[in-house]
Parts: sequence; C-alpha cells; structure tokens
Amino acid sequence: MLQRLAERMRTRRGDNSSLRTGQLDNLGLEELVTRILTREGCEGERERVVVEVGTGGGRGSTVAIHRALSAHGCPFQLIGYEGDAGLAALASNHWSDAHNVRVINEYVMRREDLDLTVKPRVAPEDRDSYLPEFDAVATKGNFLTTYPSGPIDLLFIDSVRYTHLAILRAAAPWLGLKAFVVMEDDIPNYGELAIIETEFELRDVGRHEISGHQWPLVEFRLGARR
Ligand SMILES: C[S@@+](CC[C@H](N)C(=O)[O-])C[C@H]1O[C@@H](n2cnc3c(N)ncnc32)[C@H](O)[C@@H]1O
Repeated sequence: MLQRLAERMRTRRGDNSSLRTGQLDNLGLEELVTRILTREGCEGERERVVVEVGTGGGRGSTVAIHRALSAHGCPFQLIGYEGDAGLAALASNHWSDAHNVRVINEYVMRREDLDLTVKPRVAPEDRDSYLPEFDAVATKGNFLTTYPSGPIDLLFIDSVRYTHLAILRAAAPWLGLKAFVVMEDDIPNYGELAIIETEFELRDVGRHEISGHQWPLVEFRLGARR
C-alpha cells in the first residue's frame, strides 16, 4: 500500500519508472474483474467492450484485466486510454501482438472540465502537488476524440486523484444502464466516490478491500444525473 503511495509521489515528481514497469498487476483486481464477468455472463458472440482509463505503460492493471478477460472466455476488446504520449507508446508496443487490445493516446475528459470539475475540488493539502499537474495537462492537444466502438460493458479507471468525475462525464454517453465502473476510492477524509455522487446517482455500489493496497476498489453502475 505504501509502495503505491510512494510510486504516486515519485510520478508527480516526474519519475514515472513505476508506470513503465506497471503498478496494478494485482490479483485482487483480477479477481474482482472475474467476479463481475461471471456475474454478468456472456451475450452470445457479442464482444464485451472493456475500457481502461490510465493504462500507463500497459504492464500494470491492463495485464490483470486482460488475464481475467482471457480466462473467462467471452469475446472481448480491451481499449486502454493513456494521455501521456511516452507511456502510451510503451503500452502500444507492449500489446502490439494482442489482437483484442488497443491503446489510444488520449485523455478521456473534456479540457474545460479541468477548470470546471477537477481543479475546484482539489483539497487544500493537495493543491501544491496536483494543480501544476492539471495545468500541464491543460496544455495538451490530445483530449478524447477516438470513441469506443460500442457501448462500454466495463469501465476501469486508474487515473489521477480528482479526475474521476471528469472522466465519467466524458464516458457517460457510452455507459449503458448495465455497465459497471471499477475504480480506486482514494483521497483521505474526502473520497473519489463522494465527488462523483455530487453529480451522478450510483447503483449497485460494492466496496472491496484489496490486499496490499491502502484504498479499496469500488464498483458501481451509473444512475441518473442529479
Ligand atoms: C496511476 S497511473 C496508471 C497506472 C497503470 N494503470 C498501472 O497499473 O501501471 C495513472 C495514469 O493515468 C493517466 N491519466 C490520467 N488522467 C487520464 C485521463 N483522463 N485519460 C487518460 N489517461 C489519464 C496518467 O497519464 C497516468 O499514466
């Protein structure tokens, strides 16, 4: 758990070595995805569309999710969005031989939501470390223009603290009533989930403590906008 925290601090200081080698190739995540897949079942030959936001270098959570999908056996496509160009290139290269994995070098959010949704919610003790990061992202030109090929069955978010609501706003048009979202619920005494609930009603919420991690993974379905 402290390891991932330390990794995040290093990442904010510009050392993204742990993202290159992968952070969340984690059995707990794999088991959670497997449980959701088993519960929801296959729908004939229809490919499940699984979207990951925050693929990093493609050797972390992408590997755990891919393992769960491959073992479960329904046809699927796994689409990984990674905003950072260097990491997206690494991830693309890593998955180049996998016919059902695609990496897209785009930020899943609208640029204006950095000012409207993300920055206003940064807690005072996080402002020095996070605001410069969001200002840097705002200068980039690769915000979402390549959309998923169909409705998303499972959305996994492993991005940066405070960005999850903006990501859900951007992804909402592809999230049907049955789609599941899985993400970490971090931010001490505050909560990423609580931020999302200011705008969306959530259904079927489940919390899962993951061995070796400080923050639980949460799953939910997106309900109506408040
Ligand atoms: C915690 S790291 C991902 C770690 C990776 N999943 C792993 O297990 O190794 C977060 C990543 O999310 C990316 N990111 C943050 N916001 C994003 C967004 N809105 N769309 C796409 N990528 C985003 C960052 O560039 C960073 O590489």
